[in-house]
Amino acid sequence: MTSKPRIAVAKGDGIGPEIMDATLRIMEAAGAELEYDFIDIGEKVYLDGNTAGITNESWDILRRNKIFFKAPITTPQGGGYKSLNVTIRKSLGLYANVRPCKSYTPYVESKHPEMDVVIIRENEEDLYAGIEHRQTTDVYQCLKLITTPGTEKIVRHAFEYARNFNRKKVTCMVKDNIMKVTDGLFAQVFRDIATEYPDIESDLRIIDIGAALLADRPEDFDVIVTLNLYGDIVSDIAAQITGSVGLGGSSNLGKDFAMFEAVHGSAPDISGKDMANPSGLISAAVMMMEHLGQLSVAEKIANAWSRTLEDGIHTGDIFREGVSKHKVGTKAFADAVIERMGQVPINLPVLKLDQDSFKPIIIPEYNRKPAQKDLVGVDIFIDDSVKNADELGAQLLGLAKGALKLKMITNRGVKVFPDGLPETFCTDHWRCRFVNSENSKDVNQMQNVSKEDLLELLSVLTRANVDVVKTENLYYFDGKIAFSLGQGE
Ligand code: NAI
Ligand code: MG
Repeated sequence: MTSKPRIAVAKGDGIGPEIMDATLRIMEAAGAELEYDFIDIGEKVYLDGNTAGITNESWDILRRNKIFFKAPITTPQGGGYKSLNVTIRKSLGLYANVRPCKSYTPYVESKHPEMDVVIIRENEEDLYAGIEHRQTTDVYQCLKLITTPGTEKIVRHAFEYARNFNRKKVTCMVKDNIMKVTDGLFAQVFRDIATEYPDIESDLRIIDIGAALLADRPEDFDVIVTLNLYGDIVSDIAAQITGSVGLGGSSNLGKDFAMFEAVHGSAPDISGKDMANPSGLISAAVMMMEHLGQLSVAEKIANAWSRTLEDGIHTGDIFREGVSKHKVGTKAFADAVIERMGQVPINLPVLKLDQDSFKPIIIPEYNRKPAQKDLVGVDIFIDDSVKNADELGAQLLGLAKGALKLKMITNRGVKVFPDGLPETFCTDHWRCRFVNSENSKDVNQMQNVSKEDLLELLSVLTRANVDVVKTENLYYFDGKIAFSLGQGE
């Protein structure tokens, strides 16, 4: 017999230890074949002066065991403490956050009885790279980084997930009408990869109306794949409208590592009172047992849990007169699930995982396709709180006499020079686009420029006391424009 997998377990803060103990008892009763290494993370570690909230010894255990079962932690208020969740996701390469959101009516009240959605959120990129700068007195920026490998991984993961779990449709949510380059990449990768899965319906939605439709008619959605920030928001919306955040579990998956946790936090308001609903962590445990290939254990836990819910044994957060029969605490809820081990629900769906069709999701190695990259200009960002657009434009036209000529100036993305509107409000942050003067009118026909041309322009500007705060090169990739145009360009 092969040895049991060793997993790292953190009991966390607040209600964490109560719900973790309850869940571990249920897993044992279901016959989970596991060894545990318990690690300390969170509040106590933070308050000991470790701003990361995790010790080196705990990291070593995580890296060795590769599977992490985590109860919620409390992030202390005040500055200096780094989000442990973000650190763990990024350090272990957990690129996919998978959050099933399902309603359990009539046992748990929800306005959406037919809801059964899985949100697959990209977990490492986007605005969460946390690269932020203040550039001028007025203006602050956050870099949104979207990559081809990151996008391919998450989109493929969504389609593979849909296949594994017999889901019919994958909906991608983006804002590519506004962010044509970054969200445009996400949408294009989605369209390309969708063709490899003709058995699964694919659908592309703009995030704002997509989120609105999700809140109104979640039954129309199946699997949703989206970027990090949108996923953060829509997954909370989806969890909330199932009826209770106390029910949701999530997995964070990478190539070599995986972390499983409840959706909710450490609920300090009810901690230590034997009141917490352990269902979110139980549902995370089901996902973990699936991931580990212990499918019959996953089925047993899920089915005994559904049966308990059906039998009206409810913790306070979902207890409702007339539907619920017994109001129980955390421990008694776990006992009720354990009593029903081996039983299946009568009305709620029975979880039946197919040993043959269930396979771990393997993402192919990223294959970088070489592209011809041509430098055709530069955006120079300038801090100027004195001049107006026309004055700055006249100054830059006079200074740039080399290969690179001023084409336009925008302020917050709106063209203000040449031919700006006097009504446009301007900050002290000017994006000044310089391109080769030949053919500069047609954005698809720009001439190459050299790095020396850029340096010459920068030194001319610097000598004239122009305050350059940032430069961004303009490229064609394979002859195609690879930057956005200014509004009105
Ligand atoms: P929370 O999710 O802990 O609590 C929100 C509300 O839901 C509270 O009224 C709470 O009593 C209730 N609730 C949450 N889980 C419940 C459960 N299992 N059973 C019954 N009721 C439940 O969110 P909050 O209050 O914003 O955050 C508290 C702490 O948790 C903060 O320090 C926060 O940073 C941390 N947190 C940690 C997370 C994690 O470790 N993954 C995720 C979210 C928050
Ligand atoms: Mg969130």
